[in-house]
Parts: sequence; structure tokens; C-alpha cells
Amino acid sequence: MWDKIFYNATIATCAETAERPTALAIADQKIVWLGDVKDFDQPPERLAHEVMNVQGKLLTPGLIDCHTHLVYAGNRAHEFALKLQGVSYQEIARLGGGIQATVKMTQAASFDELYEQSAGRLEAALKNGSTTIEIKSGYGLTKAGELKQLAVIEALAKNFPGIIYPTYLAAHCLPVEYQHDSEAYINLICQEILPEVAKKQLARAVDAFCESIAFNVQQIERVFKTAKQYGLDLKLHAEQFSLSDGAALASAFKALSADHLEYINESGIAAMANAGTVAVLLPGAFYFLQEKQMPPIDLLRRYHVPIALATDCNPGTSPTTSLPLMMNMAATQWRLTPLETLRGVTINAAKALGLSKTLGSLEINKQADLLIWPIFSVEELSYYMGSVKPEVIYIKGKKI
Ligand code: NIG
Ligand code: FE
Repeated sequence: MWDKIFYNATIATCAETAERPTALAIADQKIVWLGDVKDFDQPPERLAHEVMNVQGKLLTPGLIDCHTHLVYAGNRAHEFALKLQGVSYQEIARLGGGIQATVKMTQAASFDELYEQSAGRLEAALKNGSTTIEIKSGYGLTKAGELKQLAVIEALAKNFPGIIYPTYLAAHCLPVEYQHDSEAYINLICQEILPEVAKKQLARAVDAFCESIAFNVQQIERVFKTAKQYGLDLKLHAEQFSLSDGAALASAFKALSADHLEYINESGIAAMANAGTVAVLLPGAFYFLQEKQMPPIDLLRRYHVPIALATDCNPGTSPTTSLPLMMNMAATQWRLTPLETLRGVTINAAKALGLSKTLGSLEINKQADLLIWPIFSVEELSYYMGSVKPEVIYIKGKKI
């Protein structure tokens, strides 16, 4: 006996196949069958403990948010107001606001305060359909600060029904005390923080911010080499505000993803295609910062670089937890098709986390993470500007 059969559904499998099943069965936390109830030679009630008529509604894989900075304290609403008066994100950063401001608030928060504030956002993300979520550190900057943030991520992971993928965002921002000695900070990351993070298994990947206001290619190369020695996967914030050759660096290291990419050029895209590095685009940050330079969508398509979409959930450039809103923003701002936006938050997001063997599409043997939405087509999902929420959520075959 299977655990459950869902039938009469509009199923978006997000798999490579052109098949359009209308029914799906789950057992032992996995998807075990896809097809049509007409294929059965006996009533579905005899095959599974539970049977659900989905009444034509849309059934998708659980959504995967593959790039967030969800664990932080406070907010930066006052910077938002400044930005509206014309002060740029980079200028605010130079004036000691920006990431540094969140670092101060995050350092000042106790473990419990940080946990509580972040758990609220995590719950909101789940209600919006995110069943797998990547979370980066990077607002600690000191060894103790980063370890505290990663410990909060670990604690959240214990209580979250889905998967939390922890990333040590090592080189995010140069701490004030290292302002004149960035090499010393890279040493601290490589010689003290990274070994400890690896030993305590607090992260699965290492990320960095490659940009003139952050770190350069040579510095990040050192961080990546060390991360590789510890067997950690790699990701990189690259080409967000300028072409800094981060995408080429990420590709040279076979990173899982290069993220943002508004300023990437063709050779960077070719390198990503060769390396199998996923392009994670962040339409919320693009929108919030009122960026003008669009990521080169057509070139990414032409080189068959998988495009993932994520919230980038953070207090400075994308204060949101809604992947359906990101789908709408990617469609309206960059003209991704509705199906591209859905693949961006499912199968391609799974690839960006190295989890596509078990997650990201509705296929036999994959984990039974699925959502039923109160709508009837894929188009509607990116149409409703983030206001549509799943009405049924299953994670590992269990109703949430
Ligand atoms: O992905 N670009 C760097 N990091 C974040 C912003 C973090 C912040 O402003 O607090 C981003 O946009
Ligand atoms: Fe980010």
C-alpha cells in the first residue's frame, strides 16, 4: 500500500520530460508513481491509505530558496528612506551603513533574539511555499559572531520540517578593525574561522562577495582554495554592480553557483556553461536597488546555463521571503517565461545547492516535497505578484 495518491491535479513536474501526469503517489517519504488514475486496474482507494481529489489545482514540487541571508537582527528601513532620496547602496556602505549596520545589530543580539527574529522569517518563507532554504552567515564577521550566526542556522534547521542548507559567507564585508589590512582578515578566515566551521560541520558551502566594495578575485581565490581543502562546496556573489570576473573565478573552482550576475559578460557565461555552474538571479535585489542593468538572460539561455531564482532575503537589498513574488519580478522585469520562473525556484535551485538528485522535481524516487496551490495553471503562479500561497504543503511525504 502507498501512503497517498493525489489525483485530478494540474501537475508541473519541473522534470526534463514532456509528460503531463495528473496523478501522483507517495510512500516512505518519496514519490513512487506518476501517471493518470485511468492507468489503474483497481480503484485508487485500494492502492493507498489516503486518496485526494485535487480538483484540477496546480501541484508543484516544494519551492527551493537557494540564496538567503535570513538570519540577521534588526532592519534597515531608514537606509531605504535614504535611498529614496538618491543615496546609493554603495555610498551608504562607504558611510558605515549597509552590511556593517546589520553586523552591529546582529553582534549585539543574543542567540535567542537572533533565533526568534529569524524563525519568524523562516515561518513566513514556508507559508510562501519554500520547503528547502539556503541560509548564509556573513553578518558576524568575527569568529565568535560567525559561529553564533551559524549556530542559529543549525538550531533553526533542527526545528524546520524541510531542509536548511547552511553556507558560511566568509568574505562578505571587511570589518572596520581590518580596514587597512584586508589580507589579515583573509588570514583570519582561512586559518581560524573556516577550520572551525568545517570541524563543527556548520556549513555545507562557502560563499564570498566579489566586488570593489568587498573582496577581489585574489582574496577570494585564497578562501576558495581553503574551503576546497575542507571539502566544502562553493558559491559566489559576482558581477552585481560591476564586472569583477567573479563568475570566471567561480567557474574555475567548479562552484555550484554564481549569483546576481547583472554585469557578467559573454566569456563569464561561457565559463559557467563549461563548469556547470548555475546562474542564481536575484530579482528582489534588482528591484529594491532600482538597478538598470539587467542580467543577460538571452545569453544565459543561449549557453544553456541553468537559471535559478532566489529571494536573497536580507535587510539591505531584498527584505522578502516570497519566492512567488520573485517569480513575478523575474517575469515582469526580465521577461522570464512563467515556466522558467517555476524551474528557477525548483529544479534549477536544487542544482544550485547540489541537491537535484533528490529534490527540485516530481519524479520517481525523489523526496515527496510538494505543494498544492489554489490556482489552476503555472502562469497564475508568477501572475499574482506574490499573493498566492500554497494551501497544502507536504515535506518528506508528511503534511505540514
Ligand atoms: O546579496 N551583495 C551582498 N550581500 C547581500 C546584501 C547584504 C546586505 O546589504 O545586508 C546581497 O545583496
Ligand atoms: Fe546575497
